[in-house]
Amino acid sequence: MFAFGACYYPEQVPESFWETDAKLMREAGFTVVRLAEFAWSRLEPSDGVFDFSWLDRVIDLLGSNGITIILGTPTAAAPPWMFSDEMALVEANGLARIWGSRREYCPNSPLYHHYSVRITRAMAEHYRDNPHVIGWQIDNEFGERCYCARCRSAFQSWLQRKFGSLDSLNERWGTVFWSHTYTAWDQIPAPWSRVHAPHNPGLLLDYARFMSDSYVDYQQQQLTVLRDRCPNHFVTHNFTSFYYENINYFDLARPLDFVSLDNYPRGFWDLTLKTPAAAAAIAQVTMRSLKHRPFWVMEQQSGVAAWNTFSSSVRPGEVRLWAYQSIAHGADGIVFFRWRSARFGVEQFWQGILDHDGIPGRRYDEIKRMGAELQRIGSFIQGAEVRSEVALMMSYDSRFAFQIQPHHPEFSYASHLVHYFNALHGMHIAAEMVSPDDTFSSYKLVIVTALLILDQQTVSALLQFVEQGGIVLVTMRSGVKDQDNQVVDMPMPGLLSTLCGIEIEECDALPPQETRQLNFVDAKATTEARASIWCDIIRPTQAEVIATYGEDYYEGRAAVTLNRIGKGSVLYMGTAGSEALIKTVTEIALDLAQVRSVYAHGSSDGTEITVRWQGERRFLFVLNHGRETSTVRLDKTYTDLLSGQVFTEVVQITPRQVLILTEDS
Ligand code: GLA
Ligand code: ZN
Repeated sequence: MFAFGACYYPEQVPESFWETDAKLMREAGFTVVRLAEFAWSRLEPSDGVFDFSWLDRVIDLLGSNGITIILGTPTAAAPPWMFSDEMALVEANGLARIWGSRREYCPNSPLYHHYSVRITRAMAEHYRDNPHVIGWQIDNEFGERCYCARCRSAFQSWLQRKFGSLDSLNERWGTVFWSHTYTAWDQIPAPWSRVHAPHNPGLLLDYARFMSDSYVDYQQQQLTVLRDRCPNHFVTHNFTSFYYENINYFDLARPLDFVSLDNYPRGFWDLTLKTPAAAAAIAQVTMRSLKHRPFWVMEQQSGVAAWNTFSSSVRPGEVRLWAYQSIAHGADGIVFFRWRSARFGVEQFWQGILDHDGIPGRRYDEIKRMGAELQRIGSFIQGAEVRSEVALMMSYDSRFAFQIQPHHPEFSYASHLVHYFNALHGMHIAAEMVSPDDTFSSYKLVIVTALLILDQQTVSALLQFVEQGGIVLVTMRSGVKDQDNQVVDMPMPGLLSTLCGIEIEECDALPPQETRQLNFVDAKATTEARASIWCDIIRPTQAEVIATYGEDYYEGRAAVTLNRIGKGSVLYMGTAGSEALIKTVTEIALDLAQVRSVYAHGSSDGTEITVRWQGERRFLFVLNHGRETSTVRLDKTYTDLLSGQVFTEVVQITPRQVLILTEDS
């Protein structure tokens, strides 16, 4: 059965509501409910005293309605009896978090570890044989960086393990600069302070890695308990989004059975109504890519996003459309957030499926419709893979390094990568995120954006990929630094120079808002294709010139180049670039890689097309996020799984409509 349900907080409503809730859930086609995620004070009302009776009752009730259970470990919000300053997270400004919200804990607090492991163990032992429980979610949306004294000493130990000797650390961080040479491990600070104050870049990058590892280790503590006590249950964690970048998500995902996403296309204070489909898609693609397999949505938006201010309402059809979008990009489970709107607490305005009055309305009806659909068609889709010929490299080391040194007020690693994702998305070309240490052989094109931190292993893998016929597109600031955040002592782009067949003589960071004209050698140019933010002034050593700058002191110098190596080619793009430029360069790369989408559609730009494969059977998802009907040209005859309608050649799709087309089998 396709996992379909909601996050339910039965502890937040009178028990007399439960029966009705369970009935409405069953009628909506729910197969799964997430429970207990923030219920620590009800599960352990005082130190070491556990009460699972209420949770047992609600699980029995839901179970008897045919609903399975995912249990959240409740460790993202500590009860007041437990919390002490000893376990408080200290922010970068040096101030300790005061208890009273959630996520106040330091991930390296032994006392917090003790309590977390103990509640996890108690729950795991209590529920290991419960027939309705199928899996676990650890904690909730890890986690911010801590700068407390304990993290500082844990960092020092982490560094000892990493470097072995202070001589090595001093060398690799370049501590001779400004007399920072360490003579004892305990001299090394946590860079608490103001990441924006000057600090050693090697230290800052390692601190970011250390904090990421701290959460991975903290997760592992609970995971070890769950693996041991509940070998038949799956374990996951709910990841925040593509944009969250304090944790290396590849590392966090590795030991889990699958990744879950919290998917809020219309987030807080979002009054635009125009969030492009691609903006939600990149989070879904990222989650699929972390383990290169289907993921779940553990929190799918079901209404207005509101804490103290409100997002615009969720329009009729949007909840279902967004949920299908996740499925279109590889979700194998949809759990809506949340069942009922809370009457109290920080999130009292955040809309659940039911409003405060508990009366099922249009959003419930929409979800119920989807529940019925998935009962019919879910088994076709579940487990179906998304296949991509194009990989986008995502490097957390480089993301961390750009947090430390953003380079330019208008530059961000994430949005630079997003622009390439958007270009592909607009052409209906599936992309997969890869980490720098992934293997690339299954792709035809690898896009390497701003890979500031680079090591020899990735260069060798890329070289091999290109020699065997792969196409690589490398963008600005790649290859500038080594693993220790030191600038390399060779011409830019460093270890990528040979691969790209270029050397970069100078760089020009452009004044904000300014752009530079760009001329394509073969006249592909449009006036909108402009250089922006950054201009690498390139001297080709082997590469041919694809585009040159059209103004400033580097007029006529190369901006985009192409180097042919072995059976493949490497494009280099020396500027951030306007949308039109990114599209043009991406198209050149796709042409070289002979990747093209067979799907084309008419005027509306809100149409999204993706494919999931069940063996050799294709499921073509066509979703209209726009406000106008759009026309999609098809390559053959398809049947829509949802409506049973047959389409040949063209199909009209109305706003917020969803089609799941399949070839007749
Ligand atoms: C996050 C959290 C939830 C809830 C929602 C809505 O994604 O995981 O617990 O707070 O946002 O604010
Ligand atoms: Zn700490």
